Amino acid sequence: MKIAVVGRGNVGGGLADLWEQASHEVKRIGREGGDVSDAEAVVVAIPGSMIAEALNNGHGMEGKTVIDATNLVGVDPPAGFASNAEFVKSRTNGPTAKSFNTNFAALYDRIGQARSTPSNLWCGDEEAREVVEQLNRDAGFEPVYAGPLENASLQEDFLKLLFAINRGGLGRFFYRMAPPDQL
Ligand SMILES: NC(=O)c1ccc[n+]([C@@H]2O[C@H](COP(=O)([O-])OP(=O)(O)OC[C@H]3O[C@@H](n4cnc5c(N)ncnc54)[C@H](OP(=O)(O)O)[C@@H]3O)[C@@H](O)[C@H]2O)c1
Repeated sequence: MKIAVVGRGNVGGGLADLWEQASHEVKRIGREGGDVSDAEAVVVAIPGSMIAEALNNGHGMEGKTVIDATNLVGVDPPAGFASNAEFVKSRTNGPTAKSFNTNFAALYDRIGQARSTPSNLWCGDEEAREVVEQLNRDAGFEPVYAGPLENASLQEDFLKLLFAINRGGLGRFFYRMAPPDQL
């Protein structure tokens, strides 16, 4: 599959590596922007507060299947939207999903060491299901459907629960692959 990943950091760069290992063709796009018109899937992995800017800098997004991996840390989604993912949909008007925002990028290189395949949540449009589920599996995750795109705000808020679990000291049980000093 031809994939464009917007954001070259922990998540964008890490997923790009995993997908290239699975024989996908990945175009990596940084803050300078770029053309995604030949991509079959676009993954957005930039700081959540930068979502509008990143979409402005990307050309050829209209109608694309977009997977939004952003989280909102201490900021709200754009005014008038319950989630970043719904904002993305309003701008691209294509199949849209939220995924890859609830797993730590620091563990990408150890997915294969897990005792069982790690789950990864996604919610979004049915038209995005085939792409999202394939890209989850090709990154090493078992996709878990969390409902329509209207549930994206729940999935974005899930980060707060993850942080609370980590602060509560249960992270090492929740993420069985990670040593306690990384949680
Ligand atoms: N880290 C995790 O474990 C994790 C897990 C799940 C979800 N997330 C979420 O995923 C997103 C990315 O996290 P990350 O850890 O990968 O962050 P990161 O390592 O800081 O990388 C962010 C990347 O986004 C780029 N960027 C910033 N503004 C941009 C723009 N307007 N257009 C295009 N690219 C832009 C940055 O470019 P520069 O290098 O030029 O600054 C950087 O390469 C965040 O929303 C985060 O909350 C993170």
